Amino acid sequence: MSGSTAKLVSSPIEYLHRAMASPEPEYAEAIDVNPNVLPVRRTRADELAGQVERLLSRMRIAVIYGGDKTEDGAVIYQSHNPRSWKSYQTVAEDIAASLRRMGCRYVTLMADDMRLAQRLQDEGIHFAWLNTGGVQGFCSVSHAPAILEMLGVPYLGHDPLMAGILDSKHTFKRQLMGLGIPTAEFMTWHGASGPLNPSTNPEFQKIFGNYKGPFIVKPVSGRASLNVEFVGDTYGLAPVAQEIFDLTQNHVLIERYLGGREYCVAACGPTVAHDGQLDKLDGPFTFAAVERVLQDDERIFTSMDKRPITGKRVRALVPATDAQVINQLNELGRRVFTELNMETLVRLDVRADEEGRLFVLETNPKPDLKAPTEDGVTSLIAEGLAECGMSYDDLILSLIADRVDLLLRQRRGSAGHLVELLTICEA
Ligand SMILES: Nc1ncnc2c1ncn2[C@@H]1O[C@H](COP(=O)(O)OP(=O)(O)O)[C@@H](O)[C@H]1O
Ligand SMILES: [Mg+2]
Repeated sequence: MSGSTAKLVSSPIEYLHRAMASPEPEYAEAIDVNPNVLPVRRTRADELAGQVERLLSRMRIAVIYGGDKTEDGAVIYQSHNPRSWKSYQTVAEDIAASLRRMGCRYVTLMADDMRLAQRLQDEGIHFAWLNTGGVQGFCSVSHAPAILEMLGVPYLGHDPLMAGILDSKHTFKRQLMGLGIPTAEFMTWHGASGPLNPSTNPEFQKIFGNYKGPFIVKPVSGRASLNVEFVGDTYGLAPVAQEIFDLTQNHVLIERYLGGREYCVAACGPTVAHDGQLDKLDGPFTFAAVERVLQDDERIFTSMDKRPITGKRVRALVPATDAQVINQLNELGRRVFTELNMETLVRLDVRADEEGRLFVLETNPKPDLKAPTEDGVTSLIAEGLAECGMSYDDLILSLIADRVDLLLRQRRGSAGHLVELLTICEA
């Protein structure tokens, strides 16, 4: 891996000494990339390590999870959830615990609901980590980033537009198609347009032609395989689509069933920590390439709500035997991340067809970041970290350092108070 390395240091003075020192000999010997470019990144990684360390000890951080609409004072009127709701609070606790381990003096959890703005102001929050799918309503994953944009509180998460696109599978798939990134043929159907009749529906005819199935029918905004159905032929489509429409009251996606193996790969920005040391890569970091192991009779990967993710359900891909598919997954991750201008972590769900060709099923804007537990329950991303020599805390540090880098280098206008925090002298 090319890049530059800087260990988090324990004080600004130590940081200054390190930043001014000449490159360490063992590092200089390891240079294998353009010598004109590398020193710039090395210097930036050094500088960033100091900035992150100082900000972590000075910022008041809120980790935001999904608010519960049934709680008193959460919303004005309870409305519908097209996306299956989940609080994500336990994962928010894992993230907060990791931030504390790496030196954050003030980390608190907050629910994403009507009271969020007041709570952020009352607690003097400088920075938020979004671990929420929203409270209710359409495009709920984009509500928290939209509110934070309005309040001027910088956050780690996708901006409202990108969050909304990624959580609308049909909109995202159209972007993929525009970019020539493979995704299964599909159409959408909405209950307001009358019953679905494949034999007379012009869109169905245009997209599927003589293809008679099997199909997958699923919500356009969903999670964890909930309400995702396998339908063997065209005759079965209408009732299943109707059932999903009745549940979600939203567009329904009908797509070709891909009968091959299933994979995931994660992609995030170029700042990466290994053992607490920051590297700056020259492109996005793609990692945690895993196979989701399907049982013989398992056509749809069983929801983690029904069967927790464990090492048995997920196989980390290893370069010695899986090099070809790892390269393809990394390339898909890199393309999706860069060509759609993404700014923080995503996880691509990918499936092969019977010939082994890979297709992007969806890209998750808020992949599960559950920290592995002693009883073997983990997340798809955490399960793939060991293969690239990273711990859970390394991942959390990578994500926050990358966001600090982005804010300080490209968005100073949106992070004036963080710049002020950085320049406060230690007492
Ligand atoms: N076109 C498809 N072909 C084969 N399997 C699919 C297809 N679409 C979805 N699936 C299965 O359903 C699961 C959930 O679908 P996905 O699009 O990832 O939605 P979500 O994870 O948001 O529920 C996938 O992990 C996969 O097992
Ligand atoms: Mg999925």
